[in-house]
Order: sequence, then structure tokens, then C-alpha cells
Amino acid sequence: MICRLDTARRRIEPCTLVILGASGDLTARKLIPALYHLFRDRQMPAGFRVVGLARREKTDESWRAELREALGRFSRSQPVDEDVWRAFAANVFYCPGNLTEPSSYVRLESRLEAVSPPELRQNRLFYFAIPPSQFRAAAEQLHRAGLLVREGDPGWQRIVVEKPFGHDLASAQALNGDLTQFAHEQQIFRIDHYLGKETVQNILMFRFSNSVFEQVWKREMVDHVQITVSEKLGMGGRGAYYEEAGALRDMVQNHLLQVLALVAMEPPVSLEAEAVRDEKVKLLKSIRLPQAGDGARQVVRGQYLRGIVEGQPQPGYREEERVHPDSNVETYVALKLFIDNWRWSGVPFYVRTGKCLPLSASEVRVQLRPTPNVLFAAACGPRLDPNALTLRLQPDEGITLRFNGKIPGASVGVRPVRMHFSYDAEFGAYTPEAYERLLLDAIAGDATLFIRRDEVETAWQIADAVRAGWEGKPLQDEEFYAAGTWGPDAADKLLAQGGHRWRHPEPVK
Ligand SMILES: NC(=O)c1ccc[n+]([C@@H]2O[C@H](COP(=O)([O-])OP(=O)(O)OC[C@H]3O[C@@H](n4cnc5c(N)ncnc54)[C@H](OP(=O)(O)O)[C@@H]3O)[C@@H](O)[C@H]2O)c1
Repeated sequence: MICRLDTARRRIEPCTLVILGASGDLTARKLIPALYHLFRDRQMPAGFRVVGLARREKTDESWRAELREALGRFSRSQPVDEDVWRAFAANVFYCPGNLTEPSSYVRLESRLEAVSPPELRQNRLFYFAIPPSQFRAAAEQLHRAGLLVREGDPGWQRIVVEKPFGHDLASAQALNGDLTQFAHEQQIFRIDHYLGKETVQNILMFRFSNSVFEQVWKREMVDHVQITVSEKLGMGGRGAYYEEAGALRDMVQNHLLQVLALVAMEPPVSLEAEAVRDEKVKLLKSIRLPQAGDGARQVVRGQYLRGIVEGQPQPGYREEERVHPDSNVETYVALKLFIDNWRWSGVPFYVRTGKCLPLSASEVRVQLRPTPNVLFAAACGPRLDPNALTLRLQPDEGITLRFNGKIPGASVGVRPVRMHFSYDAEFGAYTPEAYERLLLDAIAGDATLFIRRDEVETAWQIADAVRAGWEGKPLQDEEFYAAGTWGPDAADKLLAQGGHRWRHPEPVK
């Protein structure tokens, strides 16, 4: 039986999407392609307008032409359907303006009034596709212009805030303080595009709708968990950004901790946004913070040296464009985390991410405890592999269960075999971009997949505690790894202390 969970509670009302940062990369690469696909698939509201604002001078026509060209490069479906594009583009308008100048918001408001038919009411989604340094100014000016809280026929007004949301706990708290001066928490949708991925959402469905797995999801059955998000690419021109961020801020604080929260949280009382987010926050708060001095026992950082990735030479991080030649920024992080709650007490959660690793893949591996070592001990000893469940988030999205089976024949032999579930094979190649789902959710006012204030702050608290262990210390020789390998040796030692070893994602066949 197919059970749809969201149709009853979703209200996709006519609205205007206001993109602040209309001339930027995110708008061209992600937002417009996502909106085009939602429109093509008839998921956009019956009435809508897209109004873009940025400083560069453009007309409606020139912006549409630029977006059409970008769609040709970034759309997940090619070729672009010209009829669909024309119908979509007729709803798209541009308003030049500077985020820091009040007069720009006066102009924006009159543009909104002019292009929006009455059925759109005052329903407005303000998307902050702008540098984080502008988040506060944009919220403040929108508020001052009376665009965030409407009198009379209020409709709804929401803001979507891009990542990074702060660069540590203090800055995230300050930004939250700033934003909530001008908008209610319920109006603020902090995005982590990882949560828009189908396979990430599937973690909850998988866990809570299958008794066979639900039964083993606890310390009595699980030996340890590995969460890997590996990237084979280096900086690709983003050196300046990365110098400010590093792997911990760029990946661990948001994506990896979000995946960890979904994997380990308790069942929520309902699928309502607050119920799901309550459980995620509870889980994040149960993570034991690494203490100063835990050092290599819990935290490993690394930086890639020159090497070979997929047969191609790759310069070292310090040789990348717009990277300081003595940079100590980490391009790799591995953590051993413990969750101090009833379900997970004593179970290590190993979390790692890195650049210039052998392949790009994201997966969660739940390693179950071995069976008692009696029946097969004489022949197999401890070599008998315990069961493991791998949730592949990308690529080749799916789930694999590894268990042991008898090798056919007269002799008695056992070896691991696998049972695969593949999304593509089961459902066909339906791969909506994360931004499609998230934009639609924001329009519907469903905040389940967005990060709440306390959630983002708790995640920063964890990231800050990790960073405190290496802050101000130059990278040591053993913290470097050659591009194209699976990270520094210290990451292997981190697991070896607990009698474990990394299981690397395998290339898609
Ligand atoms: N690009 C991605 O794939 C990606 C992925 C994840 C998160 N993000 C986040 O998304 C946000 C935007 O990133 P991006 O890559 O699109 O940056 P970008 O290419 O530099 O675009 C920034 C946009 O902000 C506008 N802007 C900046 N200052 C302004 C001002 N004072 N007044 C009006 N407009 C102003 C710029 O327009 P004008 O110069 O014309 O004013 C431009 O449209 C950032 O927070 C980033 O961290 C981006």
C-alpha cells in the first residue's frame, strides 16, 4: 500500500518568491533550475511570481535571458523545454537594488505591488541568496520597510537563510539574535540542502516504518556506526571560501551532524516539524563534547598534499589558488563521537569527511555486533564478518545489508553476501534536486527539513569543542595525506583503538 504523508497537511498557496542575490551563482545554478522543474512538474502554486533583486543593472528581459542560458548549463533535465521555459519566465521580474539602502526596498515593494496579481496576497518568500555578511542588513531593511510583518491582509512572509549560518557558536547566536529581532522564529527557514536529498529523508522512513530494522537500532545490537561524506574534488577555484571555512565548518557542523541526528534520534511523537526537530536537538545535545586533551583519541584533522585522484595529478591544498602557502586549514576531519543517552551509551559513532579522497560518496554504515563465536570459531575465528547495513546517500542511492551465507558445495564454508536495494532499480531514475523539495516546503510553510535556532546553535557547540582541540596549533607531519588516499594514518588509528577499521565506500559498478 502506498501511503502519502504530506498531502493532507500541505498548503501550496499562491505567492511571490523574492530572491535577494538574483545575479549570483546560487540563483543561476540551483534556485532557478529548481523553480523551473517545479513549474514543469506542475508543483508550483496556481499563481506565483519570482522577483529578483541585486545591485547589477538588468531589465526583466536581460535577467530572463541570463537565466535561460544558465538553465542550459545547470538544469538536471536537458534539453530545456522552450514552451515550459517561456511560460515560466513570463512570471519572472528583476528589480535592481542595494540591500543596505532603504530606498531599494521602497522600489522593491512597488515592484512587488505592480507585478503581483491580487490572488498572491501578501504571501512572500524572501530567499537570502546573498553573502552571510548581508543577512542582518537584509532582514533589518525588510523589517523597516514593513515587508516582513504585514498589517491587514497579512498572508504569510518567510525568509530562507542560506548556509553558512555563522562560523562558530557566538556568531550563530549573534545572527539568530539579529534575525529574530526582525522576524519570528517561525518565519525563519535555515537551509541545509543535505536534508532535501531523498536518501537523507529516507533515513526516517527506513528506521521508523520497518520493524526488522527498528529492533536492532540500539546499543545491544549495534557495535558502531560510520558516517562518511567523501569528496574527490579539490578546491576548484573556491580556495578563498575554504580558507575561511575548512572541512569542520563546511561539512561537519551542518551536513554530517544532521545525518547523525537522523540516524540516531528517537522516534518523534509525530511528523510535524517541531516534533522532528525536538528529537534532533535532543540527540545533538546528547553528544558528548570532546574535551581539551582528548586529542587523537577523538578528533583527527588532515590536509591534502599533492597526489593523484582518478589518474589525474592534483596539487596540494597549499598550492591551490587563493590558499595561503602555510595554511593550517583542515581539508579532512574524522571524529569518534559518543551519544550519552539510553539507546546509544557506549556505541562509537565515527564521522569523517574530506577533500581529494579517492571517490565522492556519502554513506552511513551500521555495523552490528558479531554472533557468539562458538559454532564457526574453529574454522573462521574472529574473521567471520558481522552483519552490516549500509545506507548509501549518494551516488547509487540505496541500502545494502551484508550477512553471511554458506559457500555452495560439499565442504562447509561461510562468506559475506549482500542484499541490495537500489532506488533507481525500484523507482526509476527520479532524482529531484534537493532545492526543489526545500523550496516547495518553504512555500508550504513546512519547516521539518530546515534547521531550528537551538539546533544550529547546538551543532556549533559541538563543532567549536572539536576545533578547540587544534585551534592555534600548526598541522603536524602526520596530519597530511596524499590526495587520492583515504586521509591521514591517524584516522585509521582512531578506529584501531576501538578494534575497528574504516569501511570505505565502494565505486559504483
Ligand atoms: N553557490 C552555491 O552553490 C552555494 C551553495 C551553498 C550555499 N551558498 C550560499 O548562498 C549565498 C549566495 O552564494 P552565491 O554563490 O550565489 O554568491 P555570489 O555568486 O557571490 O552572489 C551573491 C549575490 O548577492 C548579491 N549582493 C551582494 N551584496 C549585495 C548588496 N549589497 N546589495 C544587493 N545585492 C547584493 C550579488 O549581486 P550584485 O553583485 O549584483 O549586487 C549576487 O547576486 C551565500 O550565502 C553562500 O554561502 C551558495
